[in-house]
Amino acid sequence: MRIILADSYKEMSIEATKIVAGQIYLKPASVLGLATGSTPEGLYDNLVAVHKTIGLDFSQVTTFNLDEYIGMAPENPQSYHYFMHRHFFDQVNVRPENIHIPDGCAEDVPAACRAYDKLIQSKGGIDLQVLGIGRNAHIGFNEPDVKFEARTHKVRLDDETIQANARFFEEEEDVPRYAISMGIKTIMLARRVVLLASGREKAEAVRKAVCGSVSPAAPASILQLHPDATIIADRAAAAELPEDCLTGEE
Ligand code: GLP
Repeated sequence: MRIILADSYKEMSIEATKIVAGQIYLKPASVLGLATGSTPEGLYDNLVAVHKTIGLDFSQVTTFNLDEYIGMAPENPQSYHYFMHRHFFDQVNVRPENIHIPDGCAEDVPAACRAYDKLIQSKGGIDLQVLGIGRNAHIGFNEPDVKFEARTHKVRLDDETIQANARFFEEEEDVPRYAISMGIKTIMLARRVVLLASGREKAEAVRKAVCGSVSPAAPASILQLHPDATIIADRAAAAELPEDCLTGEE
């Protein structure tokens, strides 16, 4: 696992932008796995800027988002569909037919989950997966558990996640309790993974991800087994990493 230590949120976003923009430049028909949350907002702003200033071309890019709340219609401003369109898709030239986000309103959720994994496979798999991290070390909406849930599935959100995400809603009770999330294997099958982390409240999760035991109790720790995973953390998020983790010394 490679660690890029950024001085600030801004620098973290710039480092992430270089990786994503480089991927698209080198392979214009890339399949990207995308994340929501506050953390990647700077990345999306930068990608929009690179598109508008030097014409980074998304016309052949295919995207798969990690997750969506169950019961949330795409036009609901709290939905991840809405978030992605507002922050990214509506401002670049990704083709609408190449945008994929789990359907939170699917009548048959297990069938929708299976179809999502199949669709990813049929597009040749994910080239580069962007991830954030939850305070409890979740990735996507894969909450701490006794086992790693492999494939796209229905999740019950942890109380900690509901509290953390309540800031996007008027009341905590408005936060949906269930979501559809790519599974751990879906994420691990991506050829490259880049996880962004910013802020002191992510420091413990980052430590568990980078140097804790690989365990479903800290889902992001699975990335230690990924052949091409990079964590970009700002100083606050890296605050609990031991010195040897940062220098790569044994
Ligand atoms: C959310 C999302 C995750 C995201 C995480 C952190 O619940 N499901 O994909 O990475 O929580 O969000 P934020 O970046 O806002 O801290």
